Amino acid sequence: MAYELTDEQRDRYRATAIRSQLRKQELLRFHVEDAEEGNHQQFGARLDVNDLMPQLEAHGLASLSLFSGGGGLDLGFERAGYQHVASFEILDICGETLRTNRPTWDIRSGAEAGDVRSARFSAFRGIDLVHGGPPCQPFSVAGKQAGASDPRNMWPDFVRCVLQARPRAFVAENVPGMLDRKFESFVRDNILTPLEDHYTIFRFKLPAHEFGVPQARRRVFFVGFRSKRDAARWTPPAPTHGETETLSGPVMPYNLARQSLGLPDIGFDQVAPTLRSGFTGPRNTTGVLNSKASLNIWNQLRVWPNGVQPTPSMARAYPPENGHFRMSVADCTLLQGFPSDWKFSGAVYQALGQIGNSVCPPVAYAVARQVARALGVS
Ligand SMILES: C[S@@+](CC[C@H](N)C(=O)[O-])C[C@H]1O[C@@H](n2cnc3c(N)ncnc32)[C@H](O)[C@@H]1O
Repeated sequence: MAYELTDEQRDRYRATAIRSQLRKQELLRFHVEDAEEGNHQQFGARLDVNDLMPQLEAHGLASLSLFSGGGGLDLGFERAGYQHVASFEILDICGETLRTNRPTWDIRSGAEAGDVRSARFSAFRGIDLVHGGPPCQPFSVAGKQAGASDPRNMWPDFVRCVLQARPRAFVAENVPGMLDRKFESFVRDNILTPLEDHYTIFRFKLPAHEFGVPQARRRVFFVGFRSKRDAARWTPPAPTHGETETLSGPVMPYNLARQSLGLPDIGFDQVAPTLRSGFTGPRNTTGVLNSKASLNIWNQLRVWPNGVQPTPSMARAYPPENGHFRMSVADCTLLQGFPSDWKFSGAVYQALGQIGNSVCPPVAYAVARQVARALGVS
């Protein structure tokens, strides 16, 4: 805490901050032009995330998106052949991201039009599918795990939407903490009990790196089907990437962080640590470091998880003093499994917030495909 510092420590920190700021200004002033994109012969081919989720033909299923954020679930469902009907998202900046990437989508964003709590969903009655990630801070290990008592618990609104719109299926995602024992009664009271009379519900965790995303990240999914016949056809997605052959057949090797970013071989590579969950931690932070423990892995990868820059050229122009690779928003976009043409609106901290909050699109795609199969369309 700042007030616990001695004068001497405070002076030292201030001098370091000023030195670092001056260095940044100087480097950016003189080297951005040299480092413009296209002038990076030392970098190899980057992972093309679209290869992980080839666009499927439209099968006629229509989907409604709640708590849409920067569009991870929306994009995965679109690539799996669903027709996007509307997105509800309270933050304007997320709405801007969705509109920029998909100008033809119906995006309801902002404190009035985008607030799921005040929306009526009977207009969507009969839609095929509702998906969403109700805000997860109440369950996150990074949060205080207050569950039902946390005002950010929006599960009741997700449930209300499902009961009003009566889709054939729903998909809800959340952080892994949601399946901890201490939240058993929360899950029963807030999700299972109100929905179980109408839906058969499945719960499972998916690790993103098993679907080709170059990052260690787990999400919990709840999938529900209104008809028993659809529920009987449901099987959760099988991993597409791994170390060896799995029970469900051969898989592709994991996509590792350096290799996916197109960085030179240094004799060490692995999937990136979990990127910090968005909009938590210190405000306006431009770092993606999630825990102290993961710093060791970033160090071994020689990738610097702080001071993410808006563009690749600015990142190249401003290498960290330890010489590690400094990331740009585009690099974090890739590590989260978004394709390079998906652009996040806002300042760096807002883009990182949307990235860190999202479901990795290839994971969303895998779930969306399986749901379509259960609904008998693919
Ligand atoms: C976990 S994120 C969802 C991420 C999204 N599923 C994706 O894959 O990119 C939750 C989102 O819910 C939004 N949100 C929070 N309260 C809301 C409300 N009352 N109405 C609509 N959106 C809300 C947050 O702004 C945040 O973007």
